[in-house]
Amino acid sequence: METNHLHDVLIIGSGAAGLSLALRLPPDVRIAVIAKRSLTEGNTLYAQGGISAVLNAQDSVDAHVADTLAAGAGICDEETVRLVVERGPENIRWLLEEGVRFTREAGETDGGPFHLTQEGGHSHRRVIHAADATGRAVETTLEQQVRRCGNIDLFEHHIAIDLITSAKLGAGTNRCLGAYVLNLKTEHVETFRARIVVLATGGASKVYLYTSNPDVSTGDGIAMAWRAGCRVANMEFIQFHPTCLYHHKAKSFLITEALRGEGAILLRPDGTRFMPDFHELAELAPRDIVARAIDHEMKRLGIECVYLDISHKPADFIREHFPTVYSRCLDFGIDITREPIPVVPAAHYTCGGVMTDRRARTDIAGLYCIGETAYTGLHGANRMASNSILECLVFGQLASEDISRVLPDMPQPPAVPKWDESRVTDSDEEVVVAHNWSELRHFMWDYVGIVRSIKRLERAKRRLNLLRHEIREYYDNFRVTNDLLELRNLVEVADLIIRSAQRRRESRGLHYTIDFPQRDDVEQKKPTVLIPDNYSPKAVCD
Ligand code: FAD
Ligand code: SIN
Repeated sequence: METNHLHDVLIIGSGAAGLSLALRLPPDVRIAVIAKRSLTEGNTLYAQGGISAVLNAQDSVDAHVADTLAAGAGICDEETVRLVVERGPENIRWLLEEGVRFTREAGETDGGPFHLTQEGGHSHRRVIHAADATGRAVETTLEQQVRRCGNIDLFEHHIAIDLITSAKLGAGTNRCLGAYVLNLKTEHVETFRARIVVLATGGASKVYLYTSNPDVSTGDGIAMAWRAGCRVANMEFIQFHPTCLYHHKAKSFLITEALRGEGAILLRPDGTRFMPDFHELAELAPRDIVARAIDHEMKRLGIECVYLDISHKPADFIREHFPTVYSRCLDFGIDITREPIPVVPAAHYTCGGVMTDRRARTDIAGLYCIGETAYTGLHGANRMASNSILECLVFGQLASEDISRVLPDMPQPPAVPKWDESRVTDSDEEVVVAHNWSELRHFMWDYVGIVRSIKRLERAKRRLNLLRHEIREYYDNFRVTNDLLELRNLVEVADLIIRSAQRRRESRGLHYTIDFPQRDDVEQKKPTVLIPDNYSPKAVCD
């Protein structure tokens, strides 16, 4: 049975990036949004700390720009940073208009000033938040809005397999025509065609054994764009969040950096504080430094975790500001108003991704990319806390402006071949997928994690080459499933991470290698750009 969809704009992904773009496009544009689980499942839903923007008179655009550039360790694109920071306040206003309710100062009602918190790397309080569940407030509000829009068709439980491009069909300039998508309910592959396609599929942190991310973060958009001929950049810069809850029953639960912003301190098991030994900003040093310090202490002392303590603050303050963290920890028998929280670092954010310009356009005509999937130049070698949802919103806005401009002249996509399943059978060995998935995530954690070396990267690459071969064979012979598609993408992304890490022969930002512990501003002060074999520079670029 063949199902063929035709829209003006196909948005793959329904987090802050995908949904904000859908809502900002003109109401006469027919839009499809696809999501591989329910609409709200993705990194956005779990964001805790907040969104950074210049929101009071003590702060300034210059200060936010300077902090972002400093966190990015010399390789941010300054023009992009300024563009994003300047558009911050209007995007917060847009969220307010859509209905997001942010936390106000204590005792303030509607109309009073918003409470702004501070996180690592920020020189001012500039993080607006909805208690400690900012992502939930943003995502569920945007969800309610898109569900009301008659021009937006929502396809939940649909996983994109690959982009359809004119180059793959052997026709002329490379233009994106749509995507093949597996409907996870019917188990049939459907064809989605559109005049414009947007990747908004989030990050790739599931490539690591320990991560703060939900299961959907498997780098699908990056892998699909790479296979279709897009350049990717800065894939070696994976951000490890310093503080995820350490408990054998807690899967990927983050303890927001805002706790440290409000005075929480990091302790060894014997109760001694260690961050002042590593950086003058102590617990509020940039994330890479805090994560490496914890990793160092854990390895040096042979301990399984360190502790984050906010119990010196009044219990009411803690419960009011961090209700999610408080109640989740309580579920595991930890009362954070009285005792420290066991924490470990975990893979958190993919700083690199599909290269775009400042209108969110990729190397392929008609293909845009926004949110965590994209590399825009904002984050450089390390993302500053709470700059990510900001990037999703601003690039959603920039993409909507450009798409609205070009759409009237974009032709309808031609007919494309349907998905060919004639040569595949049902898998007889699902265990191969489960085993390879686990092996990949283990060696990425051990060899391509917080501290790297030439030897470890070589080891990882050898194992990866074997896995790639096995997965390709499997993909060619068996009917596609969700797990197989995700594993195929994870393997692709792991390869991009390892190759980028091997290229960077220095330590900068989130990339630290014991073989080159210094930063090299003479030879290496630039992004790492990987170019696929099928890359061809875009013919039309205005
Ligand atoms: P996501 O929100 O991850 O959405 C991705 C979407 O793509 C999902 O709908 C998913 O189903 C879909 N998708 C993926 N692959 C496919 C496919 N093949 N086919 C179809 N659909 C697909 N950032 C901040 O700025 N402030 C914070 O306080 C903050 N806290 C965080 C806390 C946690 C625990 C985590 C994990 C992240 C946090 N971040 C924070 C980072 C931030 O949340 C993310 O970078 C951002 O929300 C990403 O949004 P997105 O729209 O790009 O992707
Ligand atoms: C956090 O709340 O600590 C996460 C903030 C972020 O990742 O930007």
